[in-house]
Amino acid sequence: MQDIGRGQGVYISTYGCQMNVNDTERMYALLEMANYVPVESPEKAGLIIINSCSVREKPVHKVHSEVGRYRALKAVNPALKIGVGGCVAQQEKAKLLADIPLLDFVFGTDAIDALPQLVADVTETRQRRVSARFENEKPYETETLIRNPGVSAFVNIMKGCDNFCTFCVVPFTRGRERSRGLAELVADVNALVRRGVKEVTLLGQNVNSYRSGCGADFGELLKTLAEDTDVQRIRYTTSHPKDFNQELVDISRECRAKIMDYIHLPVQSGNTDVLKRMNRGYSREEYLDKVRMIRDGIPGVVLSTDIIVGFPGETEDQFRDTLSLVREVGYDNIFPFAYSPRPFTKAAKFTDQVPDADKSRRLQELIDLQREISFDLAKDFDGRELEVLVERYKAEENHLMGRSTQNKIVHFHPPEPGAGAEGFVGRTVKVKVLKAFPNVLRGELLP
Ligand code: SAH
Ligand code: SF4
Ligand code: F3S
Repeated sequence: MQDIGRGQGVYISTYGCQMNVNDTERMYALLEMANYVPVESPEKAGLIIINSCSVREKPVHKVHSEVGRYRALKAVNPALKIGVGGCVAQQEKAKLLADIPLLDFVFGTDAIDALPQLVADVTETRQRRVSARFENEKPYETETLIRNPGVSAFVNIMKGCDNFCTFCVVPFTRGRERSRGLAELVADVNALVRRGVKEVTLLGQNVNSYRSGCGADFGELLKTLAEDTDVQRIRYTTSHPKDFNQELVDISRECRAKIMDYIHLPVQSGNTDVLKRMNRGYSREEYLDKVRMIRDGIPGVVLSTDIIVGFPGETEDQFRDTLSLVREVGYDNIFPFAYSPRPFTKAAKFTDQVPDADKSRRLQELIDLQREISFDLAKDFDGRELEVLVERYKAEENHLMGRSTQNKIVHFHPPEPGAGAEGFVGRTVKVKVLKAFPNVLRGELLP
């Protein structure tokens, strides 16, 4: 590897989804190999990267204001290089360089592996650069790069999205769907296990569109990883309701020792007409049927979802349908958003946009409803015995933190403080819940 960094600091700030979190880790790993040293504040860096998100308008604004904050740093250190990667970079390309004179380079979501070369180029030539071509034709082969894997690791299994929901910019910022090979993924997961990883979260914009070169689908991938690797826990996100089928439910049940009983199943709206205009590919009833199928097949499964309020044309009654669906399903947790028009998308051109005031009011109503539901559902966890994979020990507070199979965060004390407590990290233990809050449980370690 070239010595591009010469020991300088690199600072990366991350917006958006887990895909971006994982991409940031990859950037750090690649730049470290090129002799950059990760630092925890932009003031210490010779290279600053913003890994951006464009799924809604707010995170896009954040990119602009964050770059602005570095003006003073660049004034003191003209050699400082500032780049933007991720989905805003992919969406705006050269326009972003033109709009923000402070920027040195812009790189798209398929340009991550070439990042060290790009930085070298920018440094040597002192020219500003854009690298934002999609590599849609290339096979997707990217071994997971994690510097110091903990107990749990993200593994990309596919990238891109071909669904074109009418509100969503992701198909334009992540390109066409491409999947990694099955054997490659088995080897990747095994390599992580050898480095101490106990749990993997398989990542993709739409994981159940996974299709390997040899024709294996997502169900086969899950089964293969459960049977042919020593990983202890498998999670995945995000699954699209239209592609969630009985086979996947059956495999989840058969392999329930490894495949976790928590599923994120974004519904977006509870009204069939809205769903149609969103191009989601299912009706309210079909979604509810899938929920029944999942609940019947995977006892005790916990569900979460994403919801958009104020999609163009959404009437008050249609919004009520979303509230009633949320009540009917009883999600443990929801991620609610006010609709935000995005470039290139069909819905941004719909003429019946909902006023902001209505969107905010609906969002608040939905949040209030879910708060009640989450509190009610949390009570079911009181007194339960859960299998917890321990992720961390906090010496100052002498307490252990881990996750239950349902992805609930659980806090509890080790049997005795100090020596030995650290040894619980990476172990799966039984914990009895003493007090249950919506997303956090307090418990005691069982012998
Ligand atoms: N691939 C995932 C979602 C990725 S985007 C899926 O299909 O479920 C994450 C969430 O952001 C979406 O589920 C949606 O609820 C929200 N979102 C996407 N575009 C949006 C927009 N234009 N306005 C508001 N929320 C949006
Ligand atoms: Fe966006 Fe729809 Fe693709 Fe999800 S499935 S990333 S919401 S287009
Ligand atoms: Fe955002 Fe891109 Fe993820 S738009 S949500 S960072 S795929």
